[in-house]
Amino acid sequence: MCDRFATDPEFGGQFEWTGFGSTVEYRRRWEEDRLLGASPYNLVVAASDDDRPVGWVNWRDTDRAGPGAWEIGILIDPNERGRGAGTAAQSLLVDYLFATTPTHRIWAGTEIENTVEQRALERCGFRQEGLLRGHHFRDGEWRDSYIYGITRDDNPNRPRPH
Ligand SMILES: CC(C)(COP(=O)(O)OP(=O)(O)OC[C@H]1O[C@@H](n2cnc3c(N)ncnc32)[C@H](O)[C@@H]1OP(=O)(O)O)[C@@H](O)C(=O)NCCC(=O)NCCS
Repeated sequence: MCDRFATDPEFGGQFEWTGFGSTVEYRRRWEEDRLLGASPYNLVVAASDDDRPVGWVNWRDTDRAGPGAWEIGILIDPNERGRGAGTAAQSLLVDYLFATTPTHRIWAGTEIENTVEQRALERCGFRQEGLLRGHHFRDGEWRDSYIYGITRDDNPNRPRPH
C-alpha cells in the first residue's frame, strides 16, 4: 500500500495525491521500526470479516499544537471506500490514543471539498473548529482546509490511560 501511495495517483485519489514520492523512506522505516517507533506512527486498517488490509491510519506530533496533541490522518484503499471503514478506523484510533497516551487533544485537517472525511470525523465526535485558507497545495491550486478536533473532555466515557 505504501508503494502504491507513492507511485499511483489513483490510490491516494483526488485529495491525497500530491505527486510522485520515494518508496525508500517507508521501506526503511518498516525495516527499522515497523512504522511504529517514532512520529508519524502508523497502523493498518484491517477488515473485520477476513482481516485483509484496507488502508492505514497515522498520528503525529506537530510543532503547531505542541506536546499533548496528536494530528491524525487516514487513507482507505479506493476499492474499500464508502463501506464504513474510514469512520470505524478513526473512531477506534481515537479510543486507542486516549487509552494508550495521555494526549488531551486529537485533531485533523481536511480539505473543504472532502465532505466524506468531514462526515466521518463528525461521526467520530470531532467538531469543526476553524478554516485555514490556502493551507496546502494540490493539483495546481492552494486549497482551504477545515480543522476538526476532539478533546478528552469531550468524551468522558472513553477509556483513560493507566
Ligand atoms: C475519507 C475516507 C477516510 C473515508 O472513509 P470511507 O470508509 O470511505 O468512509 P465511510 O464509509 O466511513 O463514510 C463516511 C461518511 O461519508 C459518506 N460517504 C461515503 N462515501 C461517500 C460518497 N462517495 N459520496 C457521498 N457520501 C459518502 C457515508 O455515507 C458516511 O456518512 P454517514 O455516516 O452519514 O452515512 C476515505 O474515503 C479515504 O481514504 N479517502 C481518500 C483519502 C482521504 O481523503 N483521507 C482523508 C484526508 S484528510
